[in-house]
Amino acid sequence: MTLRLSVIGTGYLGATHSACMAELGFDVIGLDVVPEKVQLLNSGKVPFYEPELDAVLARNIDAGRLRFTTSFQEAAEFGDIHFICVGTPQQSGAYAADLSQVFGSIESLAPYLSSTDLVVGKSTVPVGTANQIAEILKVSAPGVDVAWNPEFLREGFAVQDTLEPDRLVVGVRSPEAESQLREVYATMIDKEIPFLVTDFPTAELVKVAANSFLATKISFINAMAEVCEAAGADVVQLAEAIGHDTRIGNRFLNAGLGFGGGCLPKDIRAFMARAGELGAEEALTFLREVDQINLRRRSHTVDLARKELGGELRGKKICMFGATFKPDSDDVRDSPALDVAVALANAGATVVVHDPKGTVNAERVYPTLTYSTDAMQAAVGAELIIHATEWMEYREIDPEELAKVVAQKNIIDARNKLDVPTWRAAGWNIRALGRPAA
Ligand code: UGA
Repeated sequence: MTLRLSVIGTGYLGATHSACMAELGFDVIGLDVVPEKVQLLNSGKVPFYEPELDAVLARNIDAGRLRFTTSFQEAAEFGDIHFICVGTPQQSGAYAADLSQVFGSIESLAPYLSSTDLVVGKSTVPVGTANQIAEILKVSAPGVDVAWNPEFLREGFAVQDTLEPDRLVVGVRSPEAESQLREVYATMIDKEIPFLVTDFPTAELVKVAANSFLATKISFINAMAEVCEAAGADVVQLAEAIGHDTRIGNRFLNAGLGFGGGCLPKDIRAFMARAGELGAEEALTFLREVDQINLRRRSHTVDLARKELGGELRGKKICMFGATFKPDSDDVRDSPALDVAVALANAGATVVVHDPKGTVNAERVYPTLTYSTDAMQAAVGAELIIHATEWMEYREIDPEELAKVVAQKNIIDARNKLDVPTWRAAGWNIRALGRPAA
């Protein structure tokens, strides 16, 4: 009999996982505690913007392989394997992760699980959590096995990353759990996608180690950008040159406004907090620096804006191109673009924010900023434009056309994606982070 799966939590991770597991042919039930989200998902609509996901979701709902519920009893009784995909945000006022959704969902599932069920954690958690869950279930749901299977998907590429991941990692304690997960991922294993079997703590650590490495790579190149600015050098050329060394590689080496989102910033902080608890704090002190370099990009961009506007932000009209933490997403969690917009507004500037997909979410968090869904409209009368999120749309803007609507032709390319000579040729004063001024 085909395995039946439940997926607990329908955020970026859970909604994608449930739709993609159904796409592989499994019968899947997704659970969320928010009834509106469940209703939307059952009608075939994704509650956030993620390319390709709408189609996969709708197709599998229509095929009868996928549905969503708010009932833990229904999800627990339906599935043989239960994937925990709930959020683990940063605790307010601390670096550590807030695990209340993880433990809450285990507690809610436990009374309805069968002794042959397998609970598989996918959420990003501090090392030791899988073991804690196993201990809890030993008492509340005897016989239920646990595994840890971290997820590495990127927003904007969630479907592709789920169906064709670079690797699969499963932390297990029993051969049965391993073979059940081999069955779930058989299609990928057949395609020779590496399938790594580890213990619990290694699987948990793989995820935070990967995100820490990525964050470090970005902050490394942003530290180089700071030095380039001081020395009059060009970080874009520098990145290209070092990236040709295959040991370094040129991916994730884009200098600019730095990383944001719901993962990298909170994961490195939670990792530092957990290492401290384990007595291994010193090993990760460098991540504090990674975080500081990253946050400095935001304050540096505000300082540069002030400088470009003659030393004063009060009363100036600034247009932000971008609100999301990265392109092809509507996610504004810890968005560098919005952080800069708010700092500029707090300093007395009038800020109009444009984003192709993120303005609704942005307005929820920062209702006092002004938003526009048309880039040209947002730029009308601006004394400065800041290119803060690298949506393709901004690269396609004609600098000559944009020049006609602004009050002053000042632009800061905070993502190093605009063609500087073209903008200069159109009469713009363009400053790019980590690159020489004209
Ligand atoms: C990240 C990881 O890339 C995924 O592998 C991981 O699964 C995910 O977190 C997670 O933990 O769930 P994501 O947050 O979707 O994925 O975004 P990234 O593509 O990693 O970008 C993160 C931030 O870094 C963005 O703000 C982006 O603009 C910035 N970035 C990225 C740079 O500033 N420079 C770069 O060269 C690359």
